[in-house]
This record gives sequence, C-alpha cells and structure tokens, in this order.
Amino acid sequence: MSTTTITAAVVRQEKGRFNIEELELDAIRPNEVRVRMVATGVCHTDAIVRDGVYPVPLPAVFGHEGAGIVEAVGSNVRTVRSGDHVVLSAAYCTHCAECRAGREAYCENLFAQDFGGRREDGTTSLTDRAGNLISSHFFGQSSFATYANVVESSLVPVDRSVPLEKIAFLGCGMQTGAGSILNELRPPAGSSIAVSGSGAVGLAAVMAARVAGCTKIVAIDLHDSRLALAEELGATHTINARTSNAAEELLRITGGRGVDYIFDTTAIPDVLVSLAGALAIRGTLALVGAAAPGTYAPFEIGASLVKGWTFKTIIQGSSVPQVFIPRLVELWQQGRFPVDKLVKNYALADINMAFDDSASGATVKPVIVF
Ligand SMILES: NC(=O)c1ccc[n+]([C@@H]2O[C@H](COP(=O)([O-])OP(=O)(O)OC[C@H]3O[C@@H](n4cnc5c(N)ncnc54)[C@H](O)[C@@H]3O)[C@@H](O)[C@H]2O)c1
Ligand SMILES: [Zn+2]
Ligand SMILES: [Zn+2]
Repeated sequence: MSTTTITAAVVRQEKGRFNIEELELDAIRPNEVRVRMVATGVCHTDAIVRDGVYPVPLPAVFGHEGAGIVEAVGSNVRTVRSGDHVVLSAAYCTHCAECRAGREAYCENLFAQDFGGRREDGTTSLTDRAGNLISSHFFGQSSFATYANVVESSLVPVDRSVPLEKIAFLGCGMQTGAGSILNELRPPAGSSIAVSGSGAVGLAAVMAARVAGCTKIVAIDLHDSRLALAEELGATHTINARTSNAAEELLRITGGRGVDYIFDTTAIPDVLVSLAGALAIRGTLALVGAAAPGTYAPFEIGASLVKGWTFKTIIQGSSVPQVFIPRLVELWQQGRFPVDKLVKNYALADINMAFDDSASGATVKPVIVF
C-alpha cells in the first residue's frame, strides 16, 4: 500500500499543545498493517511524553490506546486480515528473553519499541507538509491520527460484534489497572486492597478487585466525584486524601491489621512511604504510576523488616495483550468491567480539551472518536 495523507495531532514542543495537521503516512512494512482508526483513548502517559518526562524525539504523534479496522496487511503478518477489528496495545520485540518467556510487558527492548519514535530500521512513517520527519510508532501505533502503520505485536484482534469505540481504550490504562490485579497481584477472594489514585488506571483496578472477590476495596483520591464513581464500581470504602490521612484510615478500616495489597497510581514518594505503613504482614505495595527518572521513595526498613513485605513495580498489568484484552472484552460483555462509566467522547479537533479535562479531574477517560 502506498503513501496517504492523514490528519493527526502533532506535538512540536515539550509541554506544548497538540496541533491538528495533515501529514504523509508512508507505505506499510512487511511486519505492519494499515489501520483506519475508529477511536483512541487518552492516557496519562501521553501527557507525560508531551511534557518531556520520558524523552521521545519531537515533533511526534502520540496516542497509544487506539482501535480500528485493518485496511491493508504486510506480507509477513500472520495474525490479522483486512477488515479485522483490532484494539492496539504496547509493542514488544517478540525475540528477547522476556518476550520468549511470555513476559512481553517487560520486553528488554521496551523503550526502543514504544518510546523511540522510530521503527526498528530507524525510519519514521510520518512526514509533515514541509518534508520534516515526525516521530511515529509510539507504542507501535501513534493513534492520535486517522490512519496508522501499526506493528503486528501491537495488534489484538477482537470480536467484530463489539462496537470498537466502546472498547478502544482497553490497550493501556485499563489493561494496566485490571491486569495488575488479575495477572500480577492475584489477591485471594476475601482479601483486602487499597487503590491509591482513582483515575482511569485505579478505577480499572477497583473493578478487577471486585471480579477477584476482594471483600475490602478501598479507593483513595483527591476528588469526591471519582470516589463516588469508585463506589459505584465496587469500592467498599473511600478516602479523600485531601481531608484525611489515608494510612491512618486504612488501619482503622482493617481493625489495625493493615491492608493485604496497596496499588499505587500516583507515584508520589510521600504517598508511597506513608501507605507502606498501612500494609498488613506479608502485604504487597505495587507501583504502576510513572515518575520522572531519578525519583526515590525512602521506605522505613527497620521496624517494618519483621513484616516480610514486598514492593514491586508493574508494567501493563503484566499482561500479554493478545490474551488479556479479549478476556476484558468478555468481562465487559457480562457487565463485570463497566468501563463505559469512565468515558467521555471528544472529536480529534478537541484533543487539547480532552487532556485538560483529564488533568482537572472532570473526565476520567477521554476517548477520541474519529
Ligand atoms: N505502569 C504502567 O504500565 C502504566 C500504564 C498506564 C499508565 N501508567 C501511569 O499510571 C498513572 C495513572 O494513570 P491514570 O491514567 O489513571 O491517571 P489519572 O490522572 O487519570 O489518575 C491519577 C489519579 O490520582 C489522583 N491523585 C493525585 N494525587 C493524589 C494523592 N496525593 N492521593 C490520592 N490520589 C491522588 C488524581 O486525583 C487522579 O484521579 C500515570 O502516572 C500513568 O502514566 C502506568
Ligand atoms: Zn522483547
Ligand atoms: Zn497508557
């Protein structure tokens, strides 16, 4: 398939706005498919790269929770055909030791695959009207665009009967929140969990904790509206960290024992250090929130030694997207993963508003519908 003109949201400067521009998309490579984007979620990680916390070469097209319809298929692609509906997730190299072991979320080549702004062969698929190179292949896709050349490892074929705009955004934040609970932490039925930060990722974790059978699910946030939503989705208790001390509240809720699992999406060192004090014996504190390189959390390691506690970081909910996303779709079909409650739709032209609404707390999960 030849080059084509597309419309995309381009970031040209660190902390800059998204500009809607016409770009040239080049021909697909043998390991890629051309996807006509139907919808894409907006994730906090898009804001982080826009702001230069992780260095993706600018100008760039971001977007990494796309979904669409396959229009053309590269000669080496085996897993999808033209016309298939696909949800897009993080790319992985498929050939490193972690990928070979089924731990694709921890691919040794993760940064090059997802944040490099280039294909493995060093090219980008996008150029602007003046002929300048624009970074592409963000998470293998760069989905803030009407069309994209997507690498095969990012593709998750899904049931055609499910409206794509309803499940478009399962590929990152939802997979991370739900997968962290269902794939990585695996809390036993009857156990307790606290979710620190009830944004898109945290609320996905709340829904998954209910699926897993946790009997105490404590949502923590700064916005009462998000805490109310958390209750609707399965939280048994809520804490507004603006007005109460979350660690003290967790100890009170658990009768002094502490919580078995704490899942943090805020990546704020003071929050992590304080919450660690509310862990139960043998408890686990898991971090998924992204902080700038060089951020440290100084945990208490004296008195807490006897607790035998664990701190771990989790990427993409330790999911294999092609296995886990179809499971999330089934849970959604059964009403057990009601992501619709988090979503507000925006046009591509309103993408800056979508980011502003996410940052202010007005919208949990902005979704761009093309
Ligand atoms: N590890 C991964 O694979 C992965 C994947 C996706 C997203 N992320 C990261 O996860 C984080 C969360 O993403 P999101 O899309 O849910 O973001 P979000 O902005 O929707 O949610 C963050 C929430 O934390 C709350 N919060 C802020 N400070 C707080 C505090 N002191 N105490 C309690 N709550 C507080 C905010 O009010 C907000 O509701 C981001 O850092 C994102 O980059 C990581
Ligand atoms: Zn790999
Ligand atoms: Zn993301």
